Amino acid sequence: MELPYAEPYKIKMVESIKRSTKEQRLKWIKEAHYNLFNLSSDKVFIDLLTDSGTGAMSDKQWAEMMIGDESYAGSSSFEKLKKTVKKITGFEYFLPTHQGRAAENVLFSALVKEGDIIPGNSHFDTTKGHIEFRKATAVDCTIDEAFDTSINHPFKGNIDLKKLEKVFKTHSNKKIPFVILTITCNSAGGQPVSLENCRQVSALCKQYKIPLYFDAARFAENAYFIKRREPGYENKTIKEIVKEVFSYGDGMTISAKKDGLVNMGGFIALNNYEVFKQATVFNIMFEGFITYGGMNGRDMGALAVGLDESTEINYLESRVEQIAYLGKKLVEYGVPVQQPFGGHAIFLDANKFVPTIPREEYRAQALAIELYIVGGIRGVEIGTVLADRDPVTRKNRYPELELVRLAIPRRTYTNNHMDYVAATLKNIYDTRHEAKSGYVITEEAPIMRHFTVKFEKI
Ligand code: F0G
Repeated sequence: MELPYAEPYKIKMVESIKRSTKEQRLKWIKEAHYNLFNLSSDKVFIDLLTDSGTGAMSDKQWAEMMIGDESYAGSSSFEKLKKTVKKITGFEYFLPTHQGRAAENVLFSALVKEGDIIPGNSHFDTTKGHIEFRKATAVDCTIDEAFDTSINHPFKGNIDLKKLEKVFKTHSNKKIPFVILTITCNSAGGQPVSLENCRQVSALCKQYKIPLYFDAARFAENAYFIKRREPGYENKTIKEIVKEVFSYGDGMTISAKKDGLVNMGGFIALNNYEVFKQATVFNIMFEGFITYGGMNGRDMGALAVGLDESTEINYLESRVEQIAYLGKKLVEYGVPVQQPFGGHAIFLDANKFVPTIPREEYRAQALAIELYIVGGIRGVEIGTVLADRDPVTRKNRYPELELVRLAIPRRTYTNNHMDYVAATLKNIYDTRHEAKSGYVITEEAPIMRHFTVKFEKI
């Protein structure tokens, strides 16, 4: 008999989670103005809101917490992290920040001016927020295949080189401070970027003298897909692949709350000393002195260990294959999900799941609410609510995809939890024709509204 797969870890500490009834959840979600961000965690049974900062640290990371050096300047924990960042990414200079958007804030303060254009592959919402806040424009150059959830393309996060070159030809390179390549591409569904695409984008950027930066939140998961799907890389180690990917760029920002395997943290790493110097000023202003930048010494130590652990194949296999386990179950039940499955999440295709709910009534949000009510499972809308209004016309922007993301925290839930999620979705799917109406917004912020928006049921 062939031996089944088993996780390469055992559990040393457990945390209880609370069950609730459907009646309780109906009351709680109404009190939360139908915004899942407003629910306290004790009202959630399985929390798939995000994979960001929600993972479990290893015993070795916890051990590192005990020997963290909390010196204001020049701590040994900083030195440990700096050395690891250099080893893993190859980048020369390094600035810690308290999380990913802080790294964006610091780097973009140095590089982005009003009227600038920043091409990329479906910029994440904080990235886009930091670009638009500076009155610059993010241009999405992702390949068209990314927007059809039924097409099976191995690297749906890729940049379309023709789209990118068109931007380069339309605007002077003085208006394009950099290109940002997000690995894996969260907004396109946790979809990877191939090494070939990194190489080609890098060559085009060099030709037009435009720097290339990575948004590397999920760089290790991206490397896992390269190893599994890109010819010529099957025998390379994850660390070798990661090194090659970064060798094509000028620098990176990262939210370490994902593939850093820590609960809080981020950093900037780059090769250009002038940019490093400029960013240093903003880091001191916004984050803290350059040898801690908003992080505790103990957290920097845990991150150094986390970066090493997340770039090991055994860990990545258990991580990415757990997502696929859930995905396969859903496909078996006929539930429409984005394929191929992403590296950190399964995305439900709400346009196919509940086409009976008008888009103007936020159908993906309606599906996310139903999933909470029926199963106590918290996902997040990645659709019209997240897309915000157009900064000029103030009209809703309707993205091509209306998705509900089920992000799986790292090393946290078992496959029994995945079975529970799949069964809940099957039950909702079987009664989907009863869903006719959605929600109306009653209150919203001018930018990044999805965190605080309030709804009423129609
Ligand atoms: N870039 C990407 C690709 C991200 O997914 C995130 C965060 C950030 C940057 C910002 O990092 O949260 O540390 O400030 N994504 C989280 C998510 C919030 O749920 O996908 P942060």
